[in-house]
Amino acid sequence: MLEPTAAAALPTDVDAVAVPVHDDLRAPDGAGPAPGPELLRRCGFEGKPGQAVILPGEDGRALVAVGVGAPGGFDAGSARAAGAALAGQCSHLRSVATTVLAAGPSAGGGAAPGLASALVEGALLAAYRYPGARRKPPVHDLEHLVVVGADQAELARGTVSARATSRARDWVNEPAGSMNPTRLAQVATELGAASGFAVEVWDEQRIAAERLGGILGVSAGSATPPRLVRLAYEPAGAVATVALVGKGITFDSGGLSLKPHEGMLTMKGDMGGAAAVLASVAAAAELGLPVRALGFLALAENMPSGSATRLGDVLIARNGTSIEVLNTDAEGRLVLADALSLAVEERPDAIVDVATLTGAKVIALGNDVTGVMGTSPDLVARVLAAGRAAGEPAWELPLVQEYRAQLDSEVADLRNVGTGRAAGSIMAGLFLREFVSDVPWAHLDIAGCEMAERSEGWLTKGGTGWAARTLVELLRAW
Ligand code: BES
Ligand code: MN
Ligand code: ZN
Repeated sequence: MLEPTAAAALPTDVDAVAVPVHDDLRAPDGAGPAPGPELLRRCGFEGKPGQAVILPGEDGRALVAVGVGAPGGFDAGSARAAGAALAGQCSHLRSVATTVLAAGPSAGGGAAPGLASALVEGALLAAYRYPGARRKPPVHDLEHLVVVGADQAELARGTVSARATSRARDWVNEPAGSMNPTRLAQVATELGAASGFAVEVWDEQRIAAERLGGILGVSAGSATPPRLVRLAYEPAGAVATVALVGKGITFDSGGLSLKPHEGMLTMKGDMGGAAAVLASVAAAAELGLPVRALGFLALAENMPSGSATRLGDVLIARNGTSIEVLNTDAEGRLVLADALSLAVEERPDAIVDVATLTGAKVIALGNDVTGVMGTSPDLVARVLAAGRAAGEPAWELPLVQEYRAQLDSEVADLRNVGTGRAAGSIMAGLFLREFVSDVPWAHLDIAGCEMAERSEGWLTKGGTGWAARTLVELLRAW
């Protein structure tokens, strides 16, 4: 993986030098030699964050102009975009040194906090490639990024959070035929040993013995068994306990309420929430954050078969709530019902769940914004702020109490779907709320965010690793 290092001054032994250029086509003080404004204009370069051009420089090195926007406007978002643009222009080079941080405000001699880490995140994430099973896997040659004026600890922080995102991308990208519940649980076990957090895996028998009826009901039609994974990063002197809960449907066919072909194509990504939770707990451990982070991964495959849950069947969740299943494609909330119940039993200070939960969220907010609901305004505010800082925007949706009656059932405590198609994301949120008791709770609906149709900026085509950095930032800022 691309490795960032800090330096006090521009080194000479690099393939390229990347300098910041504002939207007036001038370089800030201390940025070093930049291409002239006339040349940049002819290249179509306007100095916007996310733009970069590569030109011949002196001494056989390439010179990269990196857009940093209006003077005085350089923030974490523009730093992330600048890092991504830089990595995009330099994919064929081995080493680049950059003075981009000269565009930002400085604090006590060094760059302001958050800028260097965001720059590194952008570069590392734009350079992400999934090798897959191709004979010629795609490569990104850039190996060394020297950041002038950066604090090494800031670079390390950016590297850890980019690695969290990259890991989540890998797990989403891996085909569902191999990335099944057993395999994802195994990945968690290995990562726990490597990064320093505890991992407990419950197999199907244990899941039955513990009465996780939602997970059993969803996996009933699948030939591959479910898993419930509990993660625990428990530093001494922790200031709070935060429980993270992830939807881990390793493939969502819809079950007997089978999805149409088009809707099923991206459903290997339906474990994106569990991927984000696993990656962020690992990052919390790697960063040594002073927060106790618990993780619950509800892992199952949703398939149709002779043993599948039928429409009208009733499942009993861990907390005793009975659920009438009227649509087997609303399976995420069934597995989350059990995982949320388990999280509540540990009496954490907060529960945050992450799930690719509803197509309705994609209709409401699109593929680049997380939908947030919750019972605690303070917790929701923390999540929205973390998403903003991480460059993963989030927007709150209301838990409309008037709609709750739609979940009333004639034969059970709850139906798993509302009576129509209206407010689908909110109906799912209202359903989940039944399982969080009085623990402050926030729900992140990341449907559509987990996979990108094309590469753009720091996002690469395929798995995005969405919400991993939001969670890391949430824990870091706690
Ligand atoms: N995994 C899907 C939601 C989804 C849709 C994720 C698009 C990513 C992209 C979820 O399990 C689902 O199928 N939800 C149903 C719920 C409905 C049956 C109430 C949906 O949104 O159609
Ligand atoms: Mn579904
Ligand atoms: Zn699903």
